[in-house]
Amino acid sequence: MRVGVLTGGGDCPGLNAVIRGIVRKGVQEYGYEFTGFKDGWRGPLEGATVKLDIPAVRGILPRGGTILGSSRTNPLKAENGVRRIKENLTKYEIDAVIAIGGEDTLGVAARLSDEYGIPCVGVPKTIDNDLSATDYTFGFNTAVGIATEAIDRLHTTAESHMRVLVVEVMGRHAGWIALHSGLAGGANVILIPEQRFDVDQVCAWVTSRFKASYAPIVCIAEGAMPKDGEMILKDGTLDSFGHVRLSGVGEWLAKEIEKRTGKEARTTVLGHVQRGGTPSAFDRWLATRFGLHAIEAVRDGAFGTMVALRGTDIVRVPISEATAKLKTVDPALYAEVGVFFG
Ligand code: F6P
Repeated sequence: MRVGVLTGGGDCPGLNAVIRGIVRKGVQEYGYEFTGFKDGWRGPLEGATVKLDIPAVRGILPRGGTILGSSRTNPLKAENGVRRIKENLTKYEIDAVIAIGGEDTLGVAARLSDEYGIPCVGVPKTIDNDLSATDYTFGFNTAVGIATEAIDRLHTTAESHMRVLVVEVMGRHAGWIALHSGLAGGANVILIPEQRFDVDQVCAWVTSRFKASYAPIVCIAEGAMPKDGEMILKDGTLDSFGHVRLSGVGEWLAKEIEKRTGKEARTTVLGHVQRGGTPSAFDRWLATRFGLHAIEAVRDGAFGTMVALRGTDIVRVPISEATAKLKTVDPALYAEVGVFFG
């Protein structure tokens, strides 16, 4: 048995831990061989491969990024994409593919498996934690840790200057990072994409914070939007690579706060710092277990399934269940943290 492995979409701390888990168990327990596909679905589409064996995975557990490279290539949008993938799988004698990715990468895996009979197993990955059917994706815990540390640091500088500090964290469609890091870091306002915010309300919270002699921290997800459509910057415009670019909402909000409250404000955009570097212990644990269970799913011929965390168990779910709908923050959960605002 030869298994192809690929990592697609935005990178995420823990990808290498998954790859290592897959290869170690696959080689040692089942005697399988592996081919690494380069840059997500671009690998099988263009026949771009890398050697993947025990020496290749040695020492990679704590390393961020992915030894396989990643891209957002969607083979279903490429000319003769499915045919080219099938030809390359035959050429490299691949019996099954493990796709490690988020909504887009796994959406492709689901269709290739369900509609075109290409045997795929999925592993859920995203720092955003917005994939359905799994309690957590790896990478999220690391990102929350980084954002929390940043908020802790921003408190002291905000207090020294009695300024508002707006911290923009990742999360295009879901506010999980903002919610968790905002709560853990004691932010005074948390704004998420799931609920449009009222700028006057935010300013009222900021003002009440100053009245209590504290400098406020506003934690905002990059996909959050004001209620009244005041934001002049466009949301979701495409760059020249066809990638969605977000709006710089944190910078915009800081300016509005200054204008409306007369208080000085600064913005910190954490950006890709949240995706880089070494994974947390939890993410190494989760990613490794996902890898071990993914290769087991291949052995069992459980194609079209994805490994998922439910409580402390790793289970198999249809990939299509994970990609059907984004897992967003429940309004009740968001309301729960509202007690700390202002
Ligand atoms: O989906 C993961 C993510 O990190 C989002 O939080 C973020 O909006 C996006 O990827 C950034 O993508 P890129 O690295 O292509 O700019």
